Amino acid sequence: MRSAGRWCALNRGWHFVMRAGMPIPLARLQAQHERLRGELEAAFYRVLDSSQFILGREVEAFEREFAAWCGARYVIGLGNGTDALALGLRALGVKPGDAVAVPAISFAATAEAVCLVGARPVFVDVEPAALTLDVASLHTAMKTQAIQAVVPVHLYGQPARMDAIVPLAQEFGAQVLEDAAQAHGASLQGRPVGCWGAAGAFSFYPTKNLGALGDAGALVTDCADVAERVRRLRDHGQVRKYEHIDLGTNSRLDALQAAWLRVKLPHLTTWNQRRRALAQRYRARLQDLPAIKPLEEFPDSVNVYHQFVIRCRNRPDLISSLRSRGIETAIHYPTPLHLLPAFAPWSRGSGSLPVAERACSEILALPLYPEMTEEEVDQVCSAIAAAKP
Ligand SMILES: Cc1ncc(COP(=O)(O)O)c(C=O)c1O
Repeated sequence: MRSAGRWCALNRGWHFVMRAGMPIPLARLQAQHERLRGELEAAFYRVLDSSQFILGREVEAFEREFAAWCGARYVIGLGNGTDALALGLRALGVKPGDAVAVPAISFAATAEAVCLVGARPVFVDVEPAALTLDVASLHTAMKTQAIQAVVPVHLYGQPARMDAIVPLAQEFGAQVLEDAAQAHGASLQGRPVGCWGAAGAFSFYPTKNLGALGDAGALVTDCADVAERVRRLRDHGQVRKYEHIDLGTNSRLDALQAAWLRVKLPHLTTWNQRRRALAQRYRARLQDLPAIKPLEEFPDSVNVYHQFVIRCRNRPDLISSLRSRGIETAIHYPTPLHLLPAFAPWSRGSGSLPVAERACSEILALPLYPEMTEEEVDQVCSAIAAAKP
């Protein structure tokens, strides 16, 4: 059987080069893991030999290393990103019945976490350039009702306008918990995401910029009290064995996931740089197609391009044309949060958040991952041009 491609030294790193004309998927985790196979296996055997599978040395080491990497004082390893949001909200004092502002475009977990702590999501429209939380709409929401916390989402790797959101939240006495699940290593005005608000929630879902080999997440914060509370909440509210002072849960990071994340973390900066370089190539190649509009990158930010998202008018035709050429695409997300049945009790219905509603009918994620080649980006762009969008 012919191999799908070969390993090549490119741009100061090893890349898996696909044969020309091969299908282009949205992500290529096998290629990443093939390269790291030896180290991942060594990490597995290290944990197997230690017989310490939950928390312990590996988790503490990952928490230290991720804290140093993202510039936070404390990192608490958790079971997943949804728990990072929910436990973060609880640690920040959000109570049942409180109102929490969330942008209308995100993965459902952002609003779900609010509901899980008994609070109610207040859906806020997004700005049209990058689809992050719109500051003017947030201001209107805060003037109209008491809002106890805001959860800005750094959507697709693009930092939200934290320079305006944090002062606005302070003015109205609201806490800020950043949803950084898609933005490991992104920054605004030189300041990393996760370090603008009182705390930041990360997911290490396998396809994220830093992905575990299963579910995993973390909360980052500079506040010792918040860190201590989340540490307790993740382990059944215990301060010491069988001394339960909070009603907590079980959301401890597995030692195996921590060990695998430690293998990947040293590569994250290079992977993010590669994503950025490929995104710039997409922008250059797509600029002559007026019907295709990539989402913008704020000039004072570093977007880590978890996704490369365009807006297009005739989306169904473009999707099928690309599919016929073996190019996979995805819609993140086809429905804004306030129009999902799960959140109907807190929604003002269709037409209430027009920017988000229109965007959800136009957005399309193109393949982008560190193992992708420049030639593959060109192949996608040629296929888009051939589709005559
Ligand atoms: C923006 C956002 N928030 C929260 C989450 C939830 O993370 P997890 O899947 O690790 O629970 C995700 C994961 O997909 C996400 O993309």
